[in-house]
Amino acid sequence: MDYGLKNKVALITGSGRGIGREIALALATEGCHIVLVDVDENSLNATKADIEAKGVKAITIKADISNYAEVEKMMDDAVKSFNAIDILVNNAGITRDNLIMRMKEEEWDRVISINLKGTFNCTKAISRYLIKQRSGKIINIASVIGIGGNIGQANYAASKAGVIALTKSAAKEFASRNINVNAIAPGFIQTAMTEVLNEEVKKKMTERIPLQRLGTVLDVANAVLFFASDKSTYITGQVMVVDGGMVM
Ligand code: NAI
Repeated sequence: MDYGLKNKVALITGSGRGIGREIALALATEGCHIVLVDVDENSLNATKADIEAKGVKAITIKADISNYAEVEKMMDDAVKSFNAIDILVNNAGITRDNLIMRMKEEEWDRVISINLKGTFNCTKAISRYLIKQRSGKIINIASVIGIGGNIGQANYAASKAGVIALTKSAAKEFASRNINVNAIAPGFIQTAMTEVLNEEVKKKMTERIPLQRLGTVLDVANAVLFFASDKSTYITGQVMVVDGGMVM
């Protein structure tokens, strides 16, 4: 399928590894030029080489999305490099799990500040460019935990529920400027994080999934391609759940 993404410019946060890296590779495979953003410089450089091997241009920017001044500079540098920006994927996110009774203020603040405020920061910083060009796609990576909640993840669940509400608000604000804003809510995805879980835990997780397997990073990246492309121009403010049928 031709997604019509050739020569578009996409910025993906948290793209040094995991889901963000796969999203960057998938967009590059479709011909997008890529702005890789992460706090971890080493992983950024490794991903850049793999993106360039696909024959598109890539730049790396080290930035902490929870810091608005850094995000504004990041967006300016990205636009200066490519003279355009078309797609933003707000993917960077963290967990700091604990039961509410034990959760430290720092654990709550850090998760909200990266997952929710970080997504707001990047959306605000790109908005003036997208509004001016009267087109653009913003895709936010939420989580099924932001829909159903989870024991030990009150901070994470609240941040992702916030991302969903932010998605719907931004979709309404930007709709008249031809900018689509959608979210993806992945379920249990096989990443470095789940790799370290013991077999018993993995079995229990799999038993909850009707399609009987954990999701792959490519399952998430494929959903991003749809929202990034013109195949989804009449869809905005939506949450696509990519969870193998758990339906939380
Ligand atoms: P990961 O931990 O493998 O990768 C996250 C990347 O974000 C890392 O490269 C990290 O350095 C970067 N990052 C962290 N804080 C940052 C900051 N302040 N500024 C810029 N970059 C920062 O995580 P993974 O598993 O790839 O998750 C990606 C997204 O998908 C997250 O938003 C996560 O909440 C979401 N998600 C993941 C699921 C899973 O099963 N792995 C399930 C549902 C959602």
